[in-house]
Amino acid sequence: MSVRDKVVIVTGGAGGIGFETVKVFTDNGAKVVLADYAKLEGEMKVEQLKEAGKDVIFCQVNVAQEASVQKMVQSTLDHYGRIDVLINNAGITRDGLLVKMSVDNFQAVMDVNIKGVFLCTQAVIPTMLQQGKGVIINTSSVSGIYGNVGQTNYAASKAAVVGMTRTWAKELGPKGIRCNAVAPGFIATNMVATIPEKVIDKLKNQIPLKRLGVPEDIAKAYLYLASEDASYVNGSILHVDGGVIM
Ligand code: CAA
Ligand code: NAI
Repeated sequence: MSVRDKVVIVTGGAGGIGFETVKVFTDNGAKVVLADYAKLEGEMKVEQLKEAGKDVIFCQVNVAQEASVQKMVQSTLDHYGRIDVLINNAGITRDGLLVKMSVDNFQAVMDVNIKGVFLCTQAVIPTMLQQGKGVIINTSSVSGIYGNVGQTNYAASKAAVVGMTRTWAKELGPKGIRCNAVAPGFIATNMVATIPEKVIDKLKNQIPLKRLGVPEDIAKAYLYLASEDASYVNGSILHVDGGVIM
């Protein structure tokens, strides 16, 4: 699955799934922009990879702010001159039962998980149109497909990601730009660490493979969708969840 010399932006690249993705792509010869709100963490991780000889830069971004996203795209073009793949991986949760969920927590999740995906994609598209080629990969979730107790905001945002993915597959496919999403199940990162122990035990039991996923499971799905091996895959939602949704 070659992504050699491809220029790849990974948002949320300092996080659990994001950093594993940056590692898998640089291991496969890609030139990667690790884009994240978390500056110290991001810079530290980029240094670590550079010392290992990888071609990677850090870019601080708030995906929910248009000017910040424009700056990320400009920095990428200044450094690498093109953008082959955008992985819209940044995301947040603000869990709470419906009766207790504040409007602020509802809105915060919409801003990052929907508006952020919209802004980043809109910002890279002019470059991809010029190139006549590009790949967009979005990150949905098992919660967005089937719903999840305590995740009104998050489930709605991840269902919206499915809608955007299929719309862009139709809109941009004719221009040589493929758009797909990965829908992860429960993956062992800081995000899942917020789930209370009694709930996580119940959840694990519902997964046919009887384990949580690991970040590499998702990074490899992103890698497949980014590569030419997936050149006829467009508008699909790739479920990587141990079978939990069946
Ligand atoms: N499935 C079934 N029941 C659940 C549940 C779940 N996923 N989560 C909570 N409940 C139940 C609890 O067992 C409890 O039931 P009882 O009243 O019968 O005991 C009831 O809902 C209320 O739960 P709490 O006592 O914990 O209430 P709370 O207000 O303190 O917290 C909560 C509610 C915030 C939803 C908390 O339970 C929670 O964080 N649950 C986990 C939510 C979750 O699954 N988040 C996923 C995070 S990872 C992620 O988002 C990545 C991804 O894409 C999947
Ligand atoms: P994580 O919390 O480890 O990483 C998320 C990263 O996004 C962090 O580095 C954070 O700084 C960054 N981020 C948050 N808001 C940002 C913003 N406004 N601008 C730029 N960066 C921002 O989470 P994880 O688990 O790695 O999640 C990655 C993606 O996978 C998210 O979209 C998440 O919703 C999705 N996902 C995760 C699952 C899981 O079980 N861990 C399951 C399904 C989907």
